[in-house]
Amino acid sequence: MRSSKQQSSIQMNYIEFSPQDALRACGPVAQISETHLLHEEADGCETAMKGRPTVAVAQSRSRENGLSSTSPVVIVAGGSSGIGLACCRRFSAEGAKVISCDLRQPAADQRWGEWIELDVTDPDRWRTVVEGVSAMYGRLDALVNSAGVLFEGTVESTSLELWRRIMAVNLYGTFFGCQAVLPLMRQSGGGAIVNVSSVSGIKAEAELAAYDASKGAVRLLSKEVALFCARRGDPIRCNSVHPGVVDTPMLTGFFAEATLSSEQEWNRAQPIGRRIGPDEVANLIVWLCSPDASFLTGAEYVIDGGATA
Ligand SMILES: NC(=O)c1ccc[n+]([C@@H]2O[C@H](COP(=O)([O-])OP(=O)(O)OC[C@H]3O[C@@H](n4cnc5c(N)ncnc54)[C@H](O)[C@@H]3O)[C@@H](O)[C@H]2O)c1
Repeated sequence: MRSSKQQSSIQMNYIEFSPQDALRACGPVAQISETHLLHEEADGCETAMKGRPTVAVAQSRSRENGLSSTSPVVIVAGGSSGIGLACCRRFSAEGAKVISCDLRQPAADQRWGEWIELDVTDPDRWRTVVEGVSAMYGRLDALVNSAGVLFEGTVESTSLELWRRIMAVNLYGTFFGCQAVLPLMRQSGGGAIVNVSSVSGIKAEAELAAYDASKGAVRLLSKEVALFCARRGDPIRCNSVHPGVVDTPMLTGFFAEATLSSEQEWNRAQPIGRRIGPDEVANLIVWLCSPDASFLTGAEYVIDGGATA
C-alpha cells in the first residue's frame, strides 16, 4: 500500500490525511475493529457455509483476477441489509477488507468492515468513495452491487416518478458503480464485479413492470461490462446473480404494502419449498469473486430453488 503522503494527488477535500482519514473524508464512516470480524459460528450461517472452499484456499490455487490479493479489498453497495449485509459478513470471514456503502448504517451488531454513506444514484459520490478506497487501501479487488428497491406496479399503473425511482437505484446505481470502480480495479491488476439482478431479470411478473425492466437491464449491463473488459484485455470479470424469493427486509416491506402480489404464491413458486437465505446468495457471490471462478464472466447465475426450471 502507498503511504498517505503519496496519495496527495487524489482529488479530495483535504490535503494531509492518514489512510483512515481518507475514508472518513467520504462522510460518515462506521469504524469496526478487527475483533468484530466474523467467525462462522457467530451468526448461524455455519450450515450454509459448510463444505465450501474458502477464498484463502482458492488463493493458493490460482492468482487469477478477483480476490487474488492476500488481503482483498471489497466494496458492497447496499451492504447494510439483506443480501448485501450477508456478503459483508461472508467477505469479512474470508479476511477481506470490506467497505459497505449504503444510504443507512447497518445495525450496531451487524457491522463487518467499514461503512460509508452512499446514495448509489449519485455518480459523483461513487467517484468520491472509490477515491477514498484508493487512498486508504491502494487497491480494489471486488464490487458487489446489491443496493435495490422493489415496488409494485403494472405497465399501466406505474407512475413516471416510480419508474424513475426504481430505475435510478436498480439500474443507474449499478451502472454508476461499475463505471466508478473500473479504473481502480485495472490499476489493482484486475478484479471481479457481481451485480445482483433477480429472477425478475429473467422472467417477468405482470405486477412488477419497472422492477422487471430494471433487473433485465442489469443482466445485459453486466454482460456489456464483461465484454468491454475482456476485449480491452483487462482482467476484470463481471457476472449477474438472479435470486428468487430471499428472506430479507425488502420482502417484508414489499408484502406489507402489496395489493397485487400474493406472498403465499411467491413462496410456493420455489419448488425447493422455502425462501432462500441471504447467506446462500452471499456464498454464490463470494465464490464468483474468488479465483475459483477465474474463467466466469458475462454469465448469469440463477439461485431460485428451481423456480425458473
Ligand atoms: N429479497 C429478494 O427476494 C430479492 C430477490 C431477487 C433480487 N433481490 C435483489 O437483491 C438486492 C438486495 O436486496 P435485499 O433483499 O437484500 O434488500 P434489502 O432491502 O434488505 O437491502 C437493500 C439495501 O439497499 C440499500 N439501498 C436502497 N436504495 C439505496 C440507494 N439509493 N443507495 C444506497 N443504498 C440503497 C438499502 O438501504 C438496503 O440496505 C436488490 O438489488 C434486490 O432487488 C432481492
